[in-house]
Amino acid sequence: MNAAIDASALEIRPVVPADEAVVKALVTAAFNQETEARLVHTLRHCGALILEQVAVTPEGKVVGHIAYSRVTPAGVGAGQDLSIACLAPVSVWPELQRQGIGSALIRASLETMKDLGEDLVLVLGPPAYYPRFGFDADLARKVQGPYAGAAFMALALTEAGQRDLPVEVSFATPFQEFE
Ligand SMILES: CC(C)(COP(=O)(O)OP(=O)(O)OC[C@H]1O[C@@H](n2cnc3c(N)ncnc32)[C@H](O)[C@@H]1OP(=O)(O)O)[C@@H](O)C(=O)NCCC(=O)NCCS
Repeated sequence: MNAAIDASALEIRPVVPADEAVVKALVTAAFNQETEARLVHTLRHCGALILEQVAVTPEGKVVGHIAYSRVTPAGVGAGQDLSIACLAPVSVWPELQRQGIGSALIRASLETMKDLGEDLVLVLGPPAYYPRFGFDADLARKVQGPYAGAAFMALALTEAGQRDLPVEVSFATPFQEFE
């Protein structure tokens, strides 16, 4: 299980039903608790997920997982037409972390989100990790919702995502557990 991983050889592909058991185990192991795995399950089954992908080695082992869920603009103003998503959670097996799997997964999935026409991606996570992908806490200050602070960051994928702010948002209902 501790074998070196070549992150450039990973396939990043959508989750299929046959992945669900390994995804549950992977997310539970990454966070050392079941809360985030339950969140993924609930988001998936309430139709809130926009994109769910796994990173798979050439041997077929699932080594990473990422999920994006719908965030709904509230109120009035330009921001109400934005397509906004929340990146959460992202998971890599503990013994395989720090080999570039998380970065490969985040970069590839953000490209997919861009292709899907998403304007803005929000994340709540380590401020030392997400800025390398372009996430910015200053931009997130223009997004009003249940989260704030240095760990709340935003990345615009389109011009509108940068321009049509501020915006008030609400997250998918399963996130209420984390507010
Ligand atoms: C966060 C996570 C997905 C990163 O995946 P990874 O494959 O280990 O990451 P990479 O190898 O691409 O990147 C490693 C870099 O991320 C940094 N990093 C990883 N986890 C971090 C954390 N929690 N806080 C700050 N930095 C972190 C490492 O220090 C390393 O930095 P460096 O390149 O400057 O040395 C993985 O560590 C994980 O599953 N963690 C537990 C779950 C979690 O906290 N998820 C994020 C919140 S949703």
